[in-house]
Amino acid sequence: MKTTHQFFIGDARKNNKIPSESVDLVVTSPPYPMIQMWDEVFAGQAPKIQQALKKQDGLLAFELMNQLLDRVWDEVYRVLKSGGFACINIGDAVRTMNDHFMLYTNHSRILNYMLKKGFTPLPAVIWRKQTNAPNKFMGSGMLPAGAYVTLEHEYILILRKGGKRLFQTEEDKLHRQKSAFFWEERNQWFSDVWMDLKGTVQKLNEKDVRKRSAAFPFELPYRLICMYSTHGDMVFDPFLGMGTTMLAAMATGRNSIGVELEKNFCDPLLSRMKTAVEVSNSRISNRLESHIDFIAQRIKSGKPIKHINTHYGFPVITAQEQNLMIHNLSSICQTGDCSFEVTYSDQPQDEFCHIWQGDKMINDKPSQKKKPENSIRKPVQLELL
Ligand SMILES: C[S@@+](CC[C@H](N)C(=O)[O-])C[C@H]1O[C@@H](n2cnc3c(N)ncnc32)[C@H](O)[C@@H]1O
Repeated sequence: MKTTHQFFIGDARKNNKIPSESVDLVVTSPPYPMIQMWDEVFAGQAPKIQQALKKQDGLLAFELMNQLLDRVWDEVYRVLKSGGFACINIGDAVRTMNDHFMLYTNHSRILNYMLKKGFTPLPAVIWRKQTNAPNKFMGSGMLPAGAYVTLEHEYILILRKGGKRLFQTEEDKLHRQKSAFFWEERNQWFSDVWMDLKGTVQKLNEKDVRKRSAAFPFELPYRLICMYSTHGDMVFDPFLGMGTTMLAAMATGRNSIGVELEKNFCDPLLSRMKTAVEVSNSRISNRLESHIDFIAQRIKSGKPIKHINTHYGFPVITAQEQNLMIHNLSSICQTGDCSFEVTYSDQPQDEFCHIWQGDKMINDKPSQKKKPENSIRKPVQLELL
């Protein structure tokens, strides 16, 4: 299996390099209107925004910044296939303009526009983005009624273009089955509140690039891509930043395409993509290890195991997970100034393939090299014997 990945430096509002109806999933996070760190980026694209900020007209600046983003949402609608999803990570903003402190509700402004465009809104995710700033509580301290709740969450708006995606051909059905996730992952990922996402290092070392990347945690696009697309799909991020969505697409066996306005991001983007094999395989091992741990606990607690995965031989909870396979990355190769090809292993990872009998793992698959009698198994595996 191979996937391709390409990014363009340019303005996502005017990007005509991506054909209409060619994308299966959009995962993105725009610059947030009314968050000070993005003022310059917005003002640089529309002088009216600069004027509104100068006049301290918060509501006008908020609307103009969102109108700029609307042009990118138009593009997202155009490039998505019918049945494709758009997942938009966005936070609201609090700000004092003209001596007036208020909340600027970016998530509802974007959602309203998407509704007008014809997208179908689906239940959204709220994720906890904890701030450790000592001054995080705003307003009148311990005295009522002039203190404000701290914003420590962001939204992932989930929208679909058109009706449900259909998987009609045998090949499509097989791709879908191989792209399944574990039952226990479903239980965690399809919750509407994510409390477990860790922040990500945002400091940029490169010269001539702004101080913070504003990158979201790798786990955020990784999960969304697993949840809303299948192997071989095309994933698009119109606000690519440091390329976290592209890295997650590589890790999940999807193709990807991205646009980023900041030309100085080119070099850091190229270096980051070159870490794909290591980053991805580590997350993949961690998923498989967690599954083995989960199964061990389940067996210990006396719950029945009914299904076996055909590739790995380990138990799974539902029949839908029988053909699930998570491909390790074998190599990444730069194919152009801003493009890459990733090659994947077609074999399941040896260290996770075992024969199970009844509720017990008894040994390695016969097709694999036999380990010496006294070989030491991992603690979790030992526990099952
Ligand atoms: C919140 S950051 C995205 C971070 C990204 N998710 C990551 O993990 O690195 C938003 C990015 O959008 C870029 N941007 C702003 N306006 C844009 C436009 N019109 N077209 C393309 N990119 C734009 C900014 O330069 C910034 O890097």
